[in-house]
Amino acid sequence: MISKKLSLTLFLWILIVLGMVGIRRYIMIPKEQARLLRDAMGNKPLADNELRKLAQFFVFQDPELTPRDRELAHWGRKLFFETGLSKNGKISCATCHKPELSFTDGKTTAQGLTQRDRNTPTIINSFSSFWFYWDGRTDSLAAQSLNPIEDEGEQGLTRSELAFWILNNSRSDYENLFGPFPKILEKALPFKARPLRERPQFSDGVVRNTMVSADNPKLLSEIGSNELTLSPQQIRQFRQKLRNQSPQKGDVLSVNYWRMNREQRFELDRVFSNVGLAFEAFEKGIVARDSAFDQFIRRWMQSSNPDPRVHFSEKFNFSEFLGFQIFLGKGACHVCHSGPYFKDNQFHNIGLPQSQAPFDLGRSLGVLTVKKDRFNCQGIFLKDSSRQKSESCRDLNFLDSETPEAIGSFKTPTLRNVAETAPYMRDGRLKTLREVLEHYNKMETHSGVGFREETLKPLNLSEHEIAALEDFLRSLSSRVEDLNL
Ligand code: HEC
Ligand code: HEC
Repeated sequence: MISKKLSLTLFLWILIVLGMVGIRRYIMIPKEQARLLRDAMGNKPLADNELRKLAQFFVFQDPELTPRDRELAHWGRKLFFETGLSKNGKISCATCHKPELSFTDGKTTAQGLTQRDRNTPTIINSFSSFWFYWDGRTDSLAAQSLNPIEDEGEQGLTRSELAFWILNNSRSDYENLFGPFPKILEKALPFKARPLRERPQFSDGVVRNTMVSADNPKLLSEIGSNELTLSPQQIRQFRQKLRNQSPQKGDVLSVNYWRMNREQRFELDRVFSNVGLAFEAFEKGIVARDSAFDQFIRRWMQSSNPDPRVHFSEKFNFSEFLGFQIFLGKGACHVCHSGPYFKDNQFHNIGLPQSQAPFDLGRSLGVLTVKKDRFNCQGIFLKDSSRQKSESCRDLNFLDSETPEAIGSFKTPTLRNVAETAPYMRDGRLKTLREVLEHYNKMETHSGVGFREETLKPLNLSEHEIAALEDFLRSLSSRVEDLNL
């Protein structure tokens, strides 16, 4: 009896201690940051010693790369530039993620087999991301990479065609990494086969919240003043206007997939996810970490002389430093673009109007999609232990697509190399950094759907301060390195 009770107590204590360790990781650092920030806000510029405390959060940490990563990356690099992995033989990942443009494409929205409605984000330093895509609809680089290959608007291949491509062009690479190509699959491989990606449907609650929050006079007049009496029919009609909410029907490619037996399907999906591991290893090594800003921070943090000015350089000088002060102080940019990668791995609504039909719900759709993704960290293929320990994996069960904050919010993009990755925002609507800064300075627009975060207020910066902030953003550019080479 006693030993049972004792072990229960012990067990509870272990849980509490583990919980506290977890909570510390979550809360402690941001709390310290938040305190410093609170002190920093208001109009008084940050003092040097306050700034120095904050600056230590900006020291770049390299990814941990293993020898296995290096092996996988070798193949992943090849695949990244391989146009053979597309329906028309012309498109590779690098068509949209061009190394010379910090892995973006310079276009407003991406152009694959068809015109897409989102801007191509950079992939630099993405080892430090927990969620991928503007709406975070995948939870790992490996899972993400499987989407463009099969997406009919991007590369448009099916997973069985990908398997054929491997057999015909890269069999030995594959087998060196993952062992023999499965025999039962090779015998039975249909020419074109893939399952349909299930499109999650928004609940009535999300649709209702979206309707009433939409900044759209026509829609609001249709709804009338009594938003609580939205009829099921009105909700159904509006649901069809939302991005990605058209119901899908089965097609011959998915019939081919489901005709294979269970084991063959499993093996095909296994080959598919292995390809994802190669892309992931390659992308993990792509970093940008040696900007004028980094050189300044390193000098300042390593020196016993706390005066920042003695550590200036030609490219990081008074104006850039003032920009950094504003970034952490008055501008409070660091609330979201935080830490050495200038992002918080979270989703925010910064009040951009709707640019085009259909209504883009952002994170709400991302949450529904990632929970259902067969290749998420809880699925059978990509559930290794390190992935399951990751922050996003722990969060996966608790994500809520219904909260009003998720509606119309998007992932905080990194600001590293931001001067090289125009145009900006999820749909590339802003052409220059100046336009972005004007948005934050004036804050006079409302979100197309959902609600702009209350912390975002007009900054009312002077022309001089805006120029400094822009200089600071430009000082975040550095050459892109491949650490797996
Ligand atoms: C047709 C252009 C195009 C192609 C081809 C393409 N991408 Fe992308 N990529 C995009 C766009 C656009 C997004 C953002 C889409 C969204 O958020 O809905 C994106 C997002 C990403 C992201 C998420 C970045 C982040 O921080 O959220 C990664 C990683 C990525 N792509 C890697 C790849 C890989 C690997 C391939 C090849 C297997 C590839 N892409 C092929 C255009 C493309
Ligand atoms: C409340 C969180 C938040 C704050 C505060 C914030 N940002 Fe952002 N920022 C975002 C999000 C989210 C996006 C993407 C929005 C979208 O596309 O819908 C973004 C986009 C950007 C972009 C475009 C990057 C790209 O690759 O498209 C720049 C540049 C930028 N922010 C700079 C700043 C600066 C400078 C400040 C301070 C004046 C700031 N941000 C404050 C969340 C924030």
